[in-house]
Amino acid sequence: MSIVQAFDRAADYDAHADVQRIVAARLADQVVALAPPPGLRVLEIGCGTGFLGAALIDRLPSARWLMTDVAPAMLARARDRFGGRSAIDYAILDGEAPGHAGSFDLIVSSLAAQWFADLPAAIDRWRGLLAPGGQIAFTTLAAGSFAEWRAAHGDLSSGTADYPTVERLAAIGLDVAIETLPVQHADAHDFLRSVKAIGAATPRPGHRPLTPAQLRTVMARFDAAGATARYVVATCIGGAGRQETTT
Ligand SMILES: C[S@@+](CC[C@H](N)C(=O)[O-])C[C@H]1O[C@@H](n2cnc3c(N)ncnc32)[C@H](O)[C@@H]1O
Repeated sequence: MSIVQAFDRAADYDAHADVQRIVAARLADQVVALAPPPGLRVLEIGCGTGFLGAALIDRLPSARWLMTDVAPAMLARARDRFGGRSAIDYAILDGEAPGHAGSFDLIVSSLAAQWFADLPAAIDRWRGLLAPGGQIAFTTLAAGSFAEWRAAHGDLSSGTADYPTVERLAAIGLDVAIETLPVQHADAHDFLRSVKAIGAATPRPGHRPLTPAQLRTVMARFDAAGATARYVVATCIGGAGRQETTT
């Protein structure tokens, strides 16, 4: 199943998205701490059902918002959340290849970039959309996420994506801060339900699914280890970087 299909079918997203809500709220605090001037043009990539917008829009007076997502069903739910606010426009957009979406003072995104095939190339494209002095602020999953689920696989191969290390993220040229959020699940079923509900169950390319017996073994090990799964969240913030210094 593609990422778009996975998120279009994630009807239960909000009920299983505590981490997403927390991460979006913290990113909103950090964006406000940047003290952006009024009248901002904001591009949001991968808005989902609108957690980041809910935490940020009212704190950026007079901002003009372009809220985007690659999955039509998610964008529709963001539109429902924000109703008829005239300062928000909506568009279906692949954040990895945004084309000429416009010129922006701020590009924000929370927990969407972990599905990009080439994150550094995507961020270079975002830089190309920044107005002079513009800023990028996004969160993504980093290496170590779901380590407990991976460990429960033992010698078996886990379908969990290979999230980037802090070194690889820092090489993009933004400031990177890492935070680990441990999430206690009732059991492995609850973990898998939650990952599926937030659309994150798509295995990494080339992964061969486990047999039912193998999956049962992995789930039993995960339960025996306490059924905790950590989200390692990277917050990446900065301006146009290299482009700024060469112009
Ligand atoms: C885990 S959800 C996060 C949504 C929201 N930002 C939040 O914090 O709740 C990831 C979102 O990224 C979107 N997404 C995934 N790949 C994308 C891409 N290439 N371009 C734009 N959005 C994408 C998905 O459709 C989904 O809505």
